[in-house]
Amino acid sequence: MEEVNQVVSMPRIGDQAPEFKAKTTQGVINYPSDYKGSWTILFSHPADFTPVCTSEFMAFATMEQQFEDANCKLVGLSVDGLYSHIAWLRNIKEKIEYKGMKNVEVKFPLIEDITMDVAKMYGMIQPNEDTTKAVRAVFYVDPKGVIRTIIYYPLSVGRNFDELYRVLIALKTTDEFDVATPADWRPGDDVIVPPAGSCNTAETRMKGKESGVECIDWFFCTKKIDKETVLKTVLKK
Ligand code: BEZ
Repeated sequence: MEEVNQVVSMPRIGDQAPEFKAKTTQGVINYPSDYKGSWTILFSHPADFTPVCTSEFMAFATMEQQFEDANCKLVGLSVDGLYSHIAWLRNIKEKIEYKGMKNVEVKFPLIEDITMDVAKMYGMIQPNEDTTKAVRAVFYVDPKGVIRTIIYYPLSVGRNFDELYRVLIALKTTDEFDVATPADWRPGDDVIVPPAGSCNTAETRMKGKESGVECIDWFFCTKKIDKETVLKTVLKK
């Protein structure tokens, strides 16, 4: 395979999400301005009427209310046209039964991007993977329009939607409580408090003087936030 090594500018974590106007299965959207005040997950898929993408759309649509309850709206994109999108989503609803999911209606907007303008702007076309299909990109954009997480998957691997939800809840928790989350964190697990020196000395922490904080080492301190407190704070915010 000939290697394609163009220099392309891609949005990065911390950048404002690039603006665009697009036709979707739910009408025209201006992204991200129409979503001010909400989190969004802007995600791409390689092609309509393909099996991995179909399984992903069924999973995401089934979880849409869960994301909505966390004030997060879903926006899909592929380089297919609007009529293909409409026909594919109708096919999913009317014909596909998979892993106990059936009659699945995709209510979130699916962007048509036949020019690939949006896909290119967001670095979703990765030519050494495929020159004419978007990879499976996931952009988390916060209520101020700032990109907070980017995850890419290749064409061949379907996403884990529990993980996509976990990342959303973790992002919101780190914002709300000014903490970080350790490996595999889930609500109710201990969180990591800011590095020593940012508000308290390591010595104070290591002596256990900071209430509720436990230090495994001078650079690694945790505290408890119970599951109910996390969920009460991050859902519907
Ligand atoms: C799929 O969704 O099944 C798929 C799409 C493009 C390439 C490979 C697989």
